[in-house]
Amino acid sequence: MKNKYRAKAISPANIAFIKFWGKKDPLINLPFNDSISMNLSNCFTATEVEFSPRYKRDRVFIDGREVQDEKLVRVVKILDLVRKRAKKKLFVKIVSKNNFPSDAGIASSASAFSALALSASKAAGLSLPQKELSILSRLGSGSASRSVVDGFAEWRKGKDGQTSYAIQLAPPDYWNLADIVAVVDKGKKIAGSTEGHKAALSSPYFKARLVELKTRIPAMKKAFLKRDLEEFGRLLEEEAVSLHVCAMTSKPPIFYWKKGTFEVVEAIFKMRERGVSVYFTMDAGPNVHAICLQKDSNRIRKIFNKLPGVLFTIINKPCLGSRLVK
Ligand code: DP6
Repeated sequence: MKNKYRAKAISPANIAFIKFWGKKDPLINLPFNDSISMNLSNCFTATEVEFSPRYKRDRVFIDGREVQDEKLVRVVKILDLVRKRAKKKLFVKIVSKNNFPSDAGIASSASAFSALALSASKAAGLSLPQKELSILSRLGSGSASRSVVDGFAEWRKGKDGQTSYAIQLAPPDYWNLADIVAVVDKGKKIAGSTEGHKAALSSPYFKARLVELKTRIPAMKKAFLKRDLEEFGRLLEEEAVSLHVCAMTSKPPIFYWKKGTFEVVEAIFKMRERGVSVYFTMDAGPNVHAICLQKDSNRIRKIFNKLPGVLFTIINKPCLGSRLVK
């Protein structure tokens, strides 16, 4: 017999062109600024949720291992919201798998919480509109709010919990960009992004960053919509450096950059001197995301793969956001 309390969803990770850094309200993941991102076609989470009277507690398995502690608490917070809304009291079993190596240091919270929001709400019998799904995903992890949308997303900071969600900036085929992730370190991050968000406010440059964003965000949107890679790339790098300056000057300071990070960035500068259009960004970690046109991605990847500090690379294109699968 078919179990009607079961659903499965897949959802991509995303790379932020304009970053979410610092929380105005950490309890509900309200950001200080709008952010912009692209979904990553080769970095997915698939999550299956089943509510059943047979279960005596919530159990969550990620890549074959049962999770406990802080991770479980974050998942249960979303489940409780879904149960309340659907007026269901059942426990769940969740099986979640990432298609990218879980030790690659690629943020999996965006793909994980957006896949969870969709699969859990559907399994509970709810059909939430995109706005509500983005809000529910945001409550799990801020950046997850953007993975709900197809292609390129813009998360509007809003005024409160109900007005802070992502909308589409452009569909996946709007611009044939690629994101080559150059993995330079597989170790556990020195500070998770949740910790980084907290520390951000103690940097003397945090306020300056918010002032800069007032002009950088509209300028980047304009360059994006014109598909002006040179101007877009300039702003992309400026934005990534701005986040890392805040991290490095927060109290205590957080240095995400490693030797391999510098190697990749230098290789990007050298390629640009030779006329190749490629630009870098990083999230709260040492791995570099190189943004270029899809037609150039293979030859750029080959150059990265020869660098001593690069462990491996993953090429991504823009893709659809979270969706249900059979
Ligand atoms: C640097 O969304 O991972 O990747 O809400 O605490 O889960 P939590 O934070 P998270 O922060 C993302 C930080 C970032 C920038 C970005 O993706 O916008």
